[in-house]
Amino acid sequence: MYKITTLPGDGIGPEVIAGAVQVLNAVRERTGIEFAITEAPFGGNAYDQTGTPLPEATLRQCLASNAVLMGAVGGPKWDNLPVHLRPEVGALLPLRKKLAVFANIRPSMVFSSLVDASTLKREVVEGLDLVVIRELTGGLYFGEKRREQLPQGGFRVIETLEYSTEEIERVARFAFELARKRSGRLTSVDKANVLESSRLWREVVSGLAAEYPDVELSHILVDNCAMQLVRYPKQFDVMLTENMFGDILSDQASQLTGSIGMLPSASLGGQVGLYEPIHGSAPDIAGQNIANPIATIMSVAMMLRYSLDSEEGAALVERAVSSVLGEGYRTIDIMQPGMTQLGTSEMSRLIAQRV
Ligand code: NAI
Ligand code: MG
Repeated sequence: MYKITTLPGDGIGPEVIAGAVQVLNAVRERTGIEFAITEAPFGGNAYDQTGTPLPEATLRQCLASNAVLMGAVGGPKWDNLPVHLRPEVGALLPLRKKLAVFANIRPSMVFSSLVDASTLKREVVEGLDLVVIRELTGGLYFGEKRREQLPQGGFRVIETLEYSTEEIERVARFAFELARKRSGRLTSVDKANVLESSRLWREVVSGLAAEYPDVELSHILVDNCAMQLVRYPKQFDVMLTENMFGDILSDQASQLTGSIGMLPSASLGGQVGLYEPIHGSAPDIAGQNIANPIATIMSVAMMLRYSLDSEEGAALVERAVSSVLGEGYRTIDIMQPGMTQLGTSEMSRLIAQRV
């Protein structure tokens, strides 16, 4: 019996998680896979209830699970809290660190029925299928930070970007292994012309290449990469990068698919897998039943594949999403002329039915 913890969080989080749970339950009915789902407070709402965005009990429960499915956290209501209490910094980052999920896998895949949903030309995105592997527990997000008041007025802030050989090597191995299973092409993204951390990054990644002779490794500077991603994204297959570059590039890659509401993620490397859509809590559309639940539902597919050992369940979910899109159903973010617009809960229910 697998244990799944859901952390709906804030904003659209609870709406998309409710949809994903419906789909999971449909998978259980179809496949007989056994799991128990327990919800826990997390993020801004948890702060309101308990005074901390990451209650001790929530963390303990996550650590005792096989998989954690998270919605999103944060929002304007909590933006002015001291930084360690803000949901993003006080809940999400420590959760990732405590679960030791250093490899964040973000596939960006264009469904054939959505080739015209992107703002980019059809020929640029048609058939696109790439994966960004973002290092998730190091870099700027976890480096020492502080703010000092200056005697002459104003402030000075210090933000630290740290990586060790070991941190780079373990995520790079992940990327080489994945590239080996896919096209055999791996692009490592850095800023080695300026950053010392990137120079080490490049050295370590290059040093591993000899162990993976079947993988063709290339390096690209992050600014050029940002440009190439919109110019000719199909040149990429597996992309490996550090935490902040990966954060930015994967949002960018999401637009190739039509909407950020389409992109799932899996964070792996520890005992427990963490699954979440790449988007945030979208306060601008929260509570309106218009958020696209597909990113979270596709995260469920990744959870079935990587943590629940059910390739069958994962394929069922992916096929259900593909079929609903093929039948012309859309949420507003991917709406196109002549298609049928559905709300979050209706879209989720339909995908669950197709499962
Ligand atoms: P966001 O990803 O929440 O929203 C960006 C834009 O995309 C918005 O216009 C939003 O309406 C749209 N969008 C996002 N998800 C969507 C979905 N499923 N369906 C349709 N449209 C969708 O990023 P934003 O606005 O920069 O951040 C909002 C809050 O979320 C902030 O407090 C931020 O810190 C937090 N955040 C949390 C993350 C997490 O929990 N993993 C990740 C990113 C941001
Ligand atoms: Mg992001």
